Amino acid sequence: MNYIYSKVSSEKKFFGKTDPFQLIEKYGTPLYTYNENILRLRCRDLKGLISYSNFTVNYSLKANSNLELIKIVRSEGLRADAMSPGEIYLNRMAGYKPEEILYISNNVSEDEFSYAINEGVKISVDSVSQLTMFGKLNPGGKVSFRLNPGVGAGHHEKVTTAGQKTKFGIEMSSIPEVKKIIEKYNLRLIGINQHIGSLFMDSEAYLKSTGNILSIARQFDDLEFVDLGGGFGIPYNKQSDQPRLDLKDLGGKLTKVINSWVKEYGKDIEFKIEPGRYIVAESSILLGKVNAIKTNYNIKYIGTDLGFNVLIRPVMYDSHHDIEIYRGNDIPSLKEENVNIVGNICETGDIIAKDRKLPEILENDILGVLDSGAYGYSMSSNYNSRLRPAEVLIQADGNPRLIRRRDTFDDLVKNFML
Ligand code: LLP
Repeated sequence: MNYIYSKVSSEKKFFGKTDPFQLIEKYGTPLYTYNENILRLRCRDLKGLISYSNFTVNYSLKANSNLELIKIVRSEGLRADAMSPGEIYLNRMAGYKPEEILYISNNVSEDEFSYAINEGVKISVDSVSQLTMFGKLNPGGKVSFRLNPGVGAGHHEKVTTAGQKTKFGIEMSSIPEVKKIIEKYNLRLIGINQHIGSLFMDSEAYLKSTGNILSIARQFDDLEFVDLGGGFGIPYNKQSDQPRLDLKDLGGKLTKVINSWVKEYGKDIEFKIEPGRYIVAESSILLGKVNAIKTNYNIKYIGTDLGFNVLIRPVMYDSHHDIEIYRGNDIPSLKEENVNIVGNICETGDIIAKDRKLPEILENDILGVLDSGAYGYSMSSNYNSRLRPAEVLIQADGNPRLIRRRDTFDDLVKNFML
């Protein structure tokens, strides 16, 4: 096997004791591969973000909810977020205790609240309307709310989750109403959380929103935690040496702000963050196969099995993922060229990389889509009745292990009343 273009995976020895061709021979393609060492490293990066004794990192498993990966994250001492009853269920299966889980609800039904209340997890509500529903269901109960601190961030407007143009959180001017409902239902406000958006590389907005949430938190005497949210970005352009988010700088600034706020508040309450992407994105390379190559009216198309049912981020947000090339023979790529890398789904928009300059790609090459661990498998689907891929973990000892089997045709029909 030849690594034609593989700067990133080669440097990291991503595939351990195996290689992309051995992996797809054994497990088929498309295939999500994960590297355990990288996953652990990223957990440790964020656990060390802030120097404050009561600091916890809640993994936001919407980014990737493979049970084996959650178990690794848990073994690193992270706690967990949930965005749905299903995520509460998965967290419990991974071994989390109810009190280690924060359910950040959004427009949920009474049944969903009741499920979370009965499970005993911590619950955050997203509006005054939902706080009222919660109060009626669970008078005297503990609750937290999600603040919209008026400042947003994110790689795309679809994932900017605070500020003026988003459905999320309770705006700062509604705090008096929050206080009234809390009193009316005799609730105990134990926490305030926020999440301003997904993927920032510059921490200005995060720091500003931290100032805002702390000014609101100061108004409540009995808090157990403040949760500053996730959104920590990763460099998706590694082939062009994009720098990493400066965690040292951000962590240093947060440490200062938190320690001085806590002094004033008079209690060492818990501070949380809730990252998803930063923990899992870089631990995965998605492998796919080049099945066909053609030129249509001057555009060269590399036809693969990497349809947007497998990885939707490029189609949904115009997201960039670096691509590597692996080859099963000795034929060299003699030139570079601009190509569209496309999948096998019946839509023209099914493009994983547009007008990308790469060494010449040949039929039967394997492509590796970098940084595909976050919002990859978790957003995959059976569109076009395609089978969702398998997932393989390259374990710390370098050996691969299947951690989710590929769908089968039976999976496509299992919910029908046959
Ligand atoms: N907390 C809450 C309440 C969230 O809604 C999210 C993500 C997170 C934490 C974790 O954010 P992260 O650290 O991963 O940025 N599908 C999009 C990203 C959607 C993010 C949704 N919320 C993408 O592929 O870029």
